[in-house]
Amino acid sequence: MARIDIDDVVVTYGGRPVIDGQSMTIPDGCFFTILGPSGCGKTTFLRLIAGFLAPARGRVAFAGRDVTRLPAHRRDCGMVFQDYALFPDRSVFENVAYGLRARHVPESDIRRRVGACLERVELAGFADRLPAALSGGQRQRVALARALVIEPLVLLLDEPLSALDARLAAGMQSFVRDIQRDYGVTTVFVTHDQRMALTMSDRVALLRAGGVEQIASPREIYHRPRSTYAADFLGAANLLAVDPDGIRGEVAQCRLSGARLAAHANGCRPGDAVRLCIREEEARILAPGAGDQGGDNRLAATVTRLTFLGEATRVELRLQGGAALRLIQPNGFGATAPEPGSAVTVEISPGCCLVREV
Ligand SMILES: Nc1ncnc2c1ncn2[C@@H]1O[C@H](COP(=O)(O)OP(=O)(O)OP(=O)(O)O)[C@@H](O)[C@H]1O
Ligand SMILES: [Mg+2]
Repeated sequence: MARIDIDDVVVTYGGRPVIDGQSMTIPDGCFFTILGPSGCGKTTFLRLIAGFLAPARGRVAFAGRDVTRLPAHRRDCGMVFQDYALFPDRSVFENVAYGLRARHVPESDIRRRVGACLERVELAGFADRLPAALSGGQRQRVALARALVIEPLVLLLDEPLSALDARLAAGMQSFVRDIQRDYGVTTVFVTHDQRMALTMSDRVALLRAGGVEQIASPREIYHRPRSTYAADFLGAANLLAVDPDGIRGEVAQCRLSGARLAAHANGCRPGDAVRLCIREEEARILAPGAGDQGGDNRLAATVTRLTFLGEATRVELRLQGGAALRLIQPNGFGATAPEPGSAVTVEISPGCCLVREV
């Protein structure tokens, strides 16, 4: 187990900086997710931590010890690659034993530790099989066992679930998370999937073109995104043009489509270029008659489109001023969606927030 510090790191490929002076701290025992779109530098950060590439500037430390110049095989990292990278001609047992043999661990210890690890990943009966005779999910668990068996200081997972179908990936999410908690190992998980990042992580680092946009807990990054980029990347958000009349402490008074609306200021100051971020579940349609008296955070709207999603219905609306708003209405308990074209009153949660437009 170890805290990981990345300090002011620059990484270049062929002279071109891909990471330019970035820092992050990954707490001891944390499940830390690096999230971002394709090409933003996620794998580059992982390779930097693993020691597969050296920074042009800056420092990487495990548990306070500088490892910047330490080669990969001396860093004590267990890594699961996106394509698993199993040895095709070696049995499951030998794949998992690989790191122990490289460390000259005695044979009797190898048998015991590989056996225990295969049991933990629920592959006890598969020791003699070749990787080609396994399903995708089983191969993934072999790769995980191979990374864990060396009892690494740090576990690095590069999109390990993206090759699995959706149902299997969902099951593997809790499996990976349970194992990580058992071992208590500091884990860096890379994904482009915002939902996986929100459900699995203690902390999330959102990247934007090689830079760190925001590091926060899943709840914080979802509800208090630092920028319109962060708001948009993490879940569906309405990002509306709005005029804040005044910001007092944490409350911003705004005007939207002629109505008064209170929102969380989210660190925004008067004069900042901002948008109002309303998550799809932070707006609801009031029962007919319930919104007749008007009042704060209530807006008149017209229903433009309904989309049935199974557990919920997405309702698209046009506000009086012309802006579009989308919300999610759970189905069940006799909930009925309004008719397209009908006039409704929408209530906006005061928990919605301003975000800087960047
Ligand atoms: N060996 C290399 N030589 C030159 N450029 C590279 C090299 N590896 C990566 N890059 C570039 O560096 C940038 C970051 O790449 P990286 O692989 O870290 O992205 P990523 O976030 O992991 O993307 P993905 O989600 O597609 O795996 C990209 O623009 C990529 O084209
Ligand atoms: Mg990658």
